Amino acid sequence: MERTFVMVKPDGVQRGLIGEIVQRFERKGLQLVGAKFVQITKQQAETHYQEHHGKDFYEKLVAFITSGPVFAMVWQGDDVIALSRQMIGRTSPLDAAPGTIRGDYAAHTNFNLIHGSDSPESASREIANFFGTDELVTYNKAIQTWI
Ligand code: PPS
Repeated sequence: MERTFVMVKPDGVQRGLIGEIVQRFERKGLQLVGAKFVQITKQQAETHYQEHHGKDFYEKLVAFITSGPVFAMVWQGDDVIALSRQMIGRTSPLDAAPGTIRGDYAAHTNFNLIHGSDSPESASREIANFFGTDELVTYNKAIQTWI
């Protein structure tokens, strides 16, 4: 069973899309194991986006992600990293297919609503950057028998 880090970015929070996004993940059959509504620090943002350090959009990205509260989550399921990326859609809303979160709700790369880990290594690092192990809940979901 895999885990991934998913975050509704400040634009998604401001636009009132937390509920819609959580609902999509729940209805897909994925399991929520952690969630928090936080204003992230600059240091946390720099750790989160460390692999993009030096790229032309890096400073703008850090400024954006710290510009307001985010809704951070950990989701669990088989192949949850790839599944989540598929549900989120491509980075640029021009490339994001209809039916994906970005394809349905985002109109600009700078405001693309949501982040999802892109690999098991990123997921472990990103989860640890936002959650202590005592903040992640392990439990059985009855519905799992049916998915
Ligand atoms: S890369 O260079 O291919 O690794 O970049 P990519 O994976 O597409 O994007 C990495 C994160 O940077 C964000 N991004 C941008 N933000 C602002 N402006 C521009 N031009 C831009 N290009 C990429 C993108 O949304 C990714 O953030 P997350 O939070 O991972 O979605």
